[in-house]
Amino acid sequence: MTQDELKTLVGQAALKYVVPGEIIGVGTGSTVNKFIDALATIKDQIRGAVSSSVASTERLRALGIPVFDANEVAELAVYVDGADEIDGQGHMVKGGGAALTREKIVAAQSRQFICIADESKLVRTLGAFPLPVEVIPMATQRLVRQFAQMGGQARLRLKDGVPLVTDNGQHILDVTGLSISDPRGFELEVSQWPGVVTVGVFALQKADVCLLGTTQGVKTLTF
Ligand code: 5RP
Repeated sequence: MTQDELKTLVGQAALKYVVPGEIIGVGTGSTVNKFIDALATIKDQIRGAVSSSVASTERLRALGIPVFDANEVAELAVYVDGADEIDGQGHMVKGGGAALTREKIVAAQSRQFICIADESKLVRTLGAFPLPVEVIPMATQRLVRQFAQMGGQARLRLKDGVPLVTDNGQHILDVTGLSISDPRGFELEVSQWPGVVTVGVFALQKADVCLLGTTQGVKTLTF
């Protein structure tokens, strides 16, 4: 099975966590796009979605699924999103699609985080995937030096040769050279650095369930 087929498989498998009559939290990325496509087939059974990015909002609306502002909804039963890495405890690295801040916000207002991923994303220790960090532009170079002090090499993410601008008008640093053995401690520490908007370690908002696409089918990991 190709990686794309595995993504389709887990995107469809996530439908069984959708609570009829509810508003669903929807993440961002190529795996979530498969989930959105699957969600469109049962759109009459849900009220709509709260989305974590402009890209997902556009896709949801194009398929006829109403999108609510996060402020209009107190709590969501379920949030479905992908990951760049997930470990055996449900801690994740996210933000490959630059949507980490809104993803963390929607995850925080959801009772259950369902991660959908192909098996290439399962790791023993987080850190091999360059860690995305959304930053306030004026803090970029100071944060590059701060990551260097912990052994990380931080690079400003570019798009078409210029700094990528997130949905929130900020920039992204991608940090290599880290081995994140204490995801919760790491998230708590880096989140407090002045100029950091959001660090792409999801340990406080970790997954409750991971639907992992494998060549043997969908494996359900619960944490
Ligand atoms: C976007 C994310 C995505 O969930 C993550 O990058 C995985 O994406 P994909 O499903 O395309 O591999 O965090 O900010």
